[in-house]
Amino acid sequence: MPQIDYNLTIGDIKIPNPLVLASMAGLTNSSFAITRSAGLAFLGGYNLDEATIIAAKELVKKGRSEFAYDDPTPVIKNELGVMNATEIIAGVNARSTTLEPLLEIAELAHQKGAIFELNAHCRQPEMEAIGAGQCLTRDLPKLATWIQEIKQTDVPLSVKVRSGVVSDVELARTIDKAGADVIHIDMMDSGPTLVKKIRDATALKIIANNSIVDYTSAHKMFSMGADYVSVARAAIAGDTILQEILAEVQFYQETVGWYNAPKHICASGDLRGLAYCCMPVKDCPLQYVLKRAGITKEDYVLIKESFKETKLGEGPHTCFGSMVWCCKITRPCPWRDGSLQDLDFSDVEYMQLKKQLADTFLACRNLE
Ligand SMILES: Cc1cc2nc3c(=O)[nH]c(=O)nc-3n(C[C@H](O)[C@H](O)[C@H](O)COP(=O)(O)O)c2cc1C
Repeated sequence: MPQIDYNLTIGDIKIPNPLVLASMAGLTNSSFAITRSAGLAFLGGYNLDEATIIAAKELVKKGRSEFAYDDPTPVIKNELGVMNATEIIAGVNARSTTLEPLLEIAELAHQKGAIFELNAHCRQPEMEAIGAGQCLTRDLPKLATWIQEIKQTDVPLSVKVRSGVVSDVELARTIDKAGADVIHIDMMDSGPTLVKKIRDATALKIIANNSIVDYTSAHKMFSMGADYVSVARAAIAGDTILQEILAEVQFYQETVGWYNAPKHICASGDLRGLAYCCMPVKDCPLQYVLKRAGITKEDYVLIKESFKETKLGEGPHTCFGSMVWCCKITRPCPWRDGSLQDLDFSDVEYMQLKKQLADTFLACRNLE
């Protein structure tokens, strides 16, 4: 498959595509990961301190697969070395009841150009009993402190959490304010609307997880604001599902120009959808969405008008006299399409400018 540039980064690491392999204890090692079509693969989860290693060994006795090494550091170092020889970016998913081993492996990940993932997700009773995994999300001040400490190593940091344990938006805001780069959220029973809530309430990169089994399920997450989708169980049998999703994502990126383009605001899209809204002249969802984002109507108009400097400023025959006010390319409109044709302005170029406009709205919103 030809390489295309999605312009994705986590920290200073460039990620080749928006598909992520999510960790599966005892399964996702480097041999598994390098045969999957993900741009980023989280190896592990690794158990780093004595308490989690003992708990993992208990789980193994019960028949669960685990990476329960007495000394996990050389194993992880070796695995990252293997991943470094491939184009897939490595992530290290790790649990511990104490901070020190997390700092050590975060530092190692940083040295090896990998992403570190703090596991605040596991819910096996053996892990919960010692305060590891998802227990961390029930103590937000501790979670915030650990994130701040791990970020001192400068490693690009993802935090893996499960929805529905505590208030999801409060959790996401805590992770954002503490300085993590990514929230990797197992959506469990929550729908894609939760992705939209996190997109609108934080500046985090979002990896949406759970039951991504085909392009339809992936696209739902992308169109609500996910930067990445991750796959675990559907990747066990082989690479076919990831390959199929990636082919569709690539097709969308090549034909529409924005693989995770939002829905319109009036179709319950996230804030990025402001890029497609028209003049604020009607009593429509735009009014309360602006209020929620802390953007005044005047600033909304100024931001739109600042894009009149670009090709979006063309289109005198469109509803409001310029394409800054026009809608998503996939919504049929003869006036916009006529203007695009007259100007030899491609759909992809049009949507890439809408993406820049959306990024400007995100940068101007009030996150307090
Ligand atoms: C066998 C197995 C082991 C798992 N181990 C881990 C783990 O160590 N760390 C972690 O963060 N998530 C772990 N998970 C959760 C997955 O990463 C993922 O969040 C979950 O399976 C939902 O995604 P899916 O619907 O794509 O499978 C594991 C899941 C499975 C099935």
